[in-house]
Amino acid sequence: MEGSTTAAAPAKRAKRTLRVAAISGSLRRAWANTGLIRAAAKMCEESIPELQIDHVDISDLPLVNTDLENTGGNVFPVAVEAFRDRVRGADCFLFASPEYNYSISGPLKNALDWGSRPPNVWADRAAAVVSASGKSGGKRMVYHVRQVGVFLDIHFVNKPEGFVQAHYPASKFDGDGNLIDPETEEQLRRILLSLQAFALRLIHGKTAA
Ligand SMILES: Cc1cc2nc3c(=O)[nH]c(=O)nc-3n(C[C@H](O)[C@H](O)[C@H](O)COP(=O)(O)O)c2cc1C
Repeated sequence: MEGSTTAAAPAKRAKRTLRVAAISGSLRRAWANTGLIRAAAKMCEESIPELQIDHVDISDLPLVNTDLENTGGNVFPVAVEAFRDRVRGADCFLFASPEYNYSISGPLKNALDWGSRPPNVWADRAAAVVSASGKSGGKRMVYHVRQVGVFLDIHFVNKPEGFVQAHYPASKFDGDGNLIDPETEEQLRRILLSLQAFALRLIHGKTAA
């Protein structure tokens, strides 16, 4: 055919499965933010098999206190070591957290701080951040997490953004904290696909170097 080229089409890179460490900043039992993580896990199982959500529970972490380091033969307390191992082993991160008083929830900030202790286990990975909050939709929480991520070398997906007004105008979660709103589900799907694409860019950029 005129104008056709004999050059071989560039080989398509096989999409690898990415482990996503998903962290909820809420410790409540019927927690909307953990509901977002459950919804993300179900979505990935059903339709984005290249992403594997690993929900990393942070409720057992002690409050950050460097007096707890280097005791009993361990650098960190056992729960902190286990948490840091799960973070270190992830390809990328999904943070889902309520906004508390215009900022990051205490439990999430505590987890970010434990992971930051040298050697920083967050560095050089892609992340997405979503928030199910009050009427604010968690915007200030999301931007504060992004700000902390600057120092921790976490690279956030810029768009789409993940602000969810959890209970306004009507609740988007049932009594057990399960996501029941199709629009929020679609928003979450687009965020996960964007995280997947960005994480792969970072990973392939590194291996190509
Ligand atoms: C201590 C505290 C402070 C809060 N501050 C805010 C806030 O600044 N902005 C906001 O939109 N919602 C605020 N909320 C509401 C929570 O973000 C909202 O209830 C959220 O859905 C809780 O998430 P969860 O269901 O995952 O626990 C606050 C709630 C608590 C308990």
